[in-house]
Amino acid sequence: MAFETITVDTSDDITVITLNRPDALNALNQQLLQELCQALEEADGSDQTRCIIVTGSEKAFAAGADITEMADKSYVDMVGQAYFQAQSERITAIRKPVIAAVAGYALGGGCELAMMCDFIIAADTAKFGQPEINLGVIPGMGGTQRLAHAVGKAKAMDMNLTGRFMDAEEALASGLVSRVVPAKKLMDEARGAAAKIAAKSLLASMAVKDTVNRSFEVSLAEGLNYERRTFYGLFATQDQKEGMAAFQEKREAQFRDK
Ligand code: CAA
Repeated sequence: MAFETITVDTSDDITVITLNRPDALNALNQQLLQELCQALEEADGSDQTRCIIVTGSEKAFAAGADITEMADKSYVDMVGQAYFQAQSERITAIRKPVIAAVAGYALGGGCELAMMCDFIIAADTAKFGQPEINLGVIPGMGGTQRLAHAVGKAKAMDMNLTGRFMDAEEALASGLVSRVVPAKKLMDEARGAAAKIAAKSLLASMAVKDTVNRSFEVSLAEGLNYERRTFYGLFATQDQKEGMAAFQEKREAQFRDK
């Protein structure tokens, strides 16, 4: 299907999904979220794709959920349509690694979308924020929850209560993003990280994603048990044999996702 609000480009084993509603700073309307979910699921199911990058434009990763689309909704509309719920669940159900490459504004739903990805690489122009308070609401896709996990209570409260933006440097110091690079180098850096990930066993990288995400859901004891079981399980794969043999033979491993 041809997409209207995103573009999708798969080269080698990396799929880049670019949010593309320039007139609205990539605001996340229902069509964009639907197309994004579909593209992510197609990449997740593709034999070719081994890592996914979600990005936006130089000016905006995404300036939030589409306010125009929501402005006239009632409580009953939002509850009845379970607004954002299905899309959030579909995005976080993706099993392959997903990198957010963020330049410019990542606000509201944009910041929340970036946080639903596995890690964020930011351009030095990036600005993160949860300004929903200025609209008389609160975040609805994880901005009070994932942000608190990422940066701790003090900054999550500050951002959500004041609606202020965090620049890339503060986001790096706070643990919201893993790297900051000059804006011109953003996609090279993201592709470089994706290529490194794509060279590993997909079985192992999907296990990393699954187990790290698990740590946010369960107690430490349960998480450690889950990690151990998953670790043991990887000894049933040919990639474990290949990875350890390659180390012993002092050569690059050739993983086959088996
Ligand atoms: N929804 C709909 N349209 C948006 C939008 C949004 N979230 N953000 C920007 N736009 C539109 C603007 O209305 C404008 O359209 P027109 O040219 O047709 O007027 C266009 O994008 C360009 O925006 P600006 O003229 O405002 O650009 P700017 O450079 O002056 O300001 C900005 C940029 C600071 C990001 C400003 O656009 C802004 O504050 N946007 C809203 C940010 C926001 O409140 N996000 C939270 C949304 S609610 C949410 O996300 C809920 C949730 O948790 C799921």
